[in-house]
Amino acid sequence: MSTSLHDRHISPQIMVGLDGSNWHLAEYVRRGGYDALRKILSEKITPEAVIAELKASGLRGRGGAGFPTGLKWSFMPRQFPGDKYLVCNSDEGEPGTFKDRDILRYNPHILIEGMIIAAYAMGIPVGYNYIHGEVWDCYEIFETALDEARDAGFLGNDILGSGFNFQLHAFHGYGAYICGEETALLESLEGKKGQPRFKPPFPASFGLYGKPTTINNTETFSAVPWIIRNGGEAFLKVGKPNNGGTKIFSISGDVNRPGNYEIPLGTPFSTLLELAGGVRGGKLKAVIPGGSSAPVVPGDIMMETTMDYDAIAKVGSMLGSGAVIVMNDTRCMVKSLLRLTYFYHEESCGQCTPCREGTGWMYRVVKRIEHGEGRMEDLDLLNSVADNIQGRTICALGDAAAMPVRAFLKHYRDEFVHHIEHKQCVVPAYV
Ligand SMILES: Cc1cc2nc3c(=O)[nH]c(=O)nc-3n(C[C@H](O)[C@H](O)[C@H](O)COP(=O)(O)O)c2cc1C
Repeated sequence: MSTSLHDRHISPQIMVGLDGSNWHLAEYVRRGGYDALRKILSEKITPEAVIAELKASGLRGRGGAGFPTGLKWSFMPRQFPGDKYLVCNSDEGEPGTFKDRDILRYNPHILIEGMIIAAYAMGIPVGYNYIHGEVWDCYEIFETALDEARDAGFLGNDILGSGFNFQLHAFHGYGAYICGEETALLESLEGKKGQPRFKPPFPASFGLYGKPTTINNTETFSAVPWIIRNGGEAFLKVGKPNNGGTKIFSISGDVNRPGNYEIPLGTPFSTLLELAGGVRGGKLKAVIPGGSSAPVVPGDIMMETTMDYDAIAKVGSMLGSGAVIVMNDTRCMVKSLLRLTYFYHEESCGQCTPCREGTGWMYRVVKRIEHGEGRMEDLDLLNSVADNIQGRTICALGDAAAMPVRAFLKHYRDEFVHHIEHKQCVVPAYV
């Protein structure tokens, strides 16, 4: 195993192919690729039965919120006579997350097959994959994979002679974090400024071009072929109740082997840390378990926690996108929070006043604490600004910006106080 950032460790092989050997169609088919689609079409498995299998699998959306996928698919009004759309969210802008681009880079056909099955289950004729604007190589690979799938009769009109039609296109996005929010993504896909819409109506009834639309994350769609081949029950058994299957964790920060690791949900955090080569350069201090917007958790608590939606929620955080950021005891929590607040201040789309103004306030207050110009009242001020953002914006970017601030203050208040009182860092050897 190499030690590059894109190092991959795949245990139960649901996202087969992430070893990077060869992403082309022939290799995917050789490994059993498109068998799930063939099975559905040749055995004439009904769309309702496909959705039932998804529900049985316990698959929850891998984009962040963990919404049950089978349930989401059942919201699509199949019989709606007009246009309907399927959209894949490959925007992947959450700091710490780098799994979806590796699926596109190393196993694009698993996503294409998953989307074709989804389209069949929901009676959708057209789909788009919105790919993050800063990852051009993934876009090119995906376009080539689409051509391969079309040439082989897996995609397009009359798929495998079944009479089922599905057109799938790639869309190169704009590289903004906000374009990962599903309704901002739809606006962007329509050629408009990527700003979130008021909800309701939700995309299931008013989505792309105002038509019923289902949006899922890249990893979510990519789990579908395995579920169809092996059955929903088998997928559920890989994980734990309410947390079916495997999940790819992008682990970065102070570990010896950062990379993407696919492990069953419910695996102890300590095992994931071991797979990633353990903590580098010091002792474990803190972990952000689900991408930069997930509240930070002290290291000792994480060492007693398993990696699944329910266990991470119990320790006051979120599994989110599965981006695990590990911090050792040389990390200054004030400086770490400063970096996060800067990101959200930069990425706020500016549409809602609490988020546009509040993210700037939080950044400037943390900055003055970091630079020895903080006042003790700033700690309450930070919590108050966070309170005034959370739950008061059109989309969850505001919550994503507020949650880290509250969690850093809750767990590491002493470090903030030390910065204010001594105008210097409590961590002796910040690197
Ligand atoms: C600010 C913001 C950014 C987001 N970025 C992404 C993203 O990059 N990729 C993603 O799949 N979901 C992202 N989401 C979540 C999506 O809105 C949506 O819930 C998800 O794509 C649904 O797919 P799933 O059910 O398969 O998880 C983001 C949400 C917010 C509020």
